[in-house]
Amino acid sequence: MIYLKTDEEIELLRENNLLVSMTLAEVGKHIRPGVTTKELDTLAETFIRDHGAVPAFLGYEGYPASLCISVNEQVVHGIPSAKCVLREGDIVSVDCGTFMKGFVGDSAYTFAVGEVSAEVRQLCDVTKEALHKGTAQAVAGHRVGDVSAAVQEYAESFGYGVVRELEGHGLGRSMHEDPGVPNYGARGRGPLLKEGMVICIEPMITMGNKAVVFERDGWTVRTRDRKPAAHYEFAVAVRRSGPDVLTDFSIIENALKN
Ligand code: MF3
Ligand code: CO
Repeated sequence: MIYLKTDEEIELLRENNLLVSMTLAEVGKHIRPGVTTKELDTLAETFIRDHGAVPAFLGYEGYPASLCISVNEQVVHGIPSAKCVLREGDIVSVDCGTFMKGFVGDSAYTFAVGEVSAEVRQLCDVTKEALHKGTAQAVAGHRVGDVSAAVQEYAESFGYGVVRELEGHGLGRSMHEDPGVPNYGARGRGPLLKEGMVICIEPMITMGNKAVVFERDGWTVRTRDRKPAAHYEFAVAVRRSGPDVLTDFSIIENALKN
């Protein structure tokens, strides 16, 4: 069942996703060598609650934290830990969700810890650009496959792997609504995108092989070949006039400049 949102509902989703963007900015300011992923999770939870929301991930299907923090070969759903200390040259994908006023926010950003290698920098930049290519297809009258194919074609043109086992999703009163939004697919296929649909587009792109394994902690997904992966996620409202991106990466990127 795909729920179309009213303009008022889209504004509540925007409020949530702006809070997610602000939380990711706050987390990003604290990312440096020596910090633990648990410390980042704690500050995010405090920040979210101080802004009148609750962390949407905490308790979701038993998930034990407010953020998913996935380092290097971890693709998504890494569990924050006091034992996980960030080091210079790491990349860290931070996925954050909020719930307030009856709606959910959900977005992700991959951060560099200090200086990273040129090839890892490129993986991040290409993954973010793949997200933008997919987002440009989120227009009423297009199909989910147009989004999927745009992400896939761009990422694969650099020789990167596109993870198949996880996908984007509809977003609304719950975190995972229909339709699923794969990061691979064929143009002109899949559900029709309609005015008022809100979807999360979230490419998970690997430097090496696309295969992933699910760790025994029940959550963490990592690359099978242990090469790095990047993950960026936007919440986007589909409009006749084009994509209306509810997430704001400029909040994150401006915070990183200062
Ligand atoms: N944000 C993830 C997604 O995009 C879900 C996080 S799983 C959770 O689907 F358990 F941590 F909530
Ligand atoms: Co998501």
